[in-house]
Amino acid sequence: MRDEGIHPYRVHGHHTSMYKSPSPLPDAARATLIETLNARLADGLDLHSQIKVAHWNIKGPQFAALHPLFETFAVSLATFNDAVAERAVTLGGVAYGTARHVAATSKLAEYPQDTSRDMDHVRLLAERIEAYLGGARESRTVGERLGDTDTVDLLTGIITLFEKHAWFLRASLAV
Ligand SMILES: [Fe+2]
Repeated sequence: MRDEGIHPYRVHGHHTSMYKSPSPLPDAARATLIETLNARLADGLDLHSQIKVAHWNIKGPQFAALHPLFETFAVSLATFNDAVAERAVTLGGVAYGTARHVAATSKLAEYPQDTSRDMDHVRLLAERIEAYLGGARESRTVGERLGDTDTVDLLTGIITLFEKHAWFLRASLAV
């Protein structure tokens, strides 16, 4: 007999058990989805902090356009981070999101915080958004393989908007 709600999974240093979920997906599928959603949460929280650093410190002729643009990136990402965390919990998991956990698990490169020039920030954020997108596509593939259309839809929404954001940045860099 299956022990209801007890199926161990791990998220970087945490061994934990799953809670009951309204999802009909099997426990093993949910455990895998929770793990990949937590990876995207870590990347997303890291990226959010990096975007804010760029928003605060940017200087140069493009300040007036880029300072508010970066804020729109941050606002949209905060909403997505919340949705990713809540999807992990909906599937019966725990959402790991402290600064220390994020620092230990994010796949993104650290942001050089002394950067000031406007176009340097554009390049740095483009690279990091592209790294974030790579992870989101990997997690979407996991969702597709496991038949979780809802996680796939969530990630597709994220990918669509952040590919657009990356296009804004790459278009700003084009000469
Ligand atoms: Fe601000």
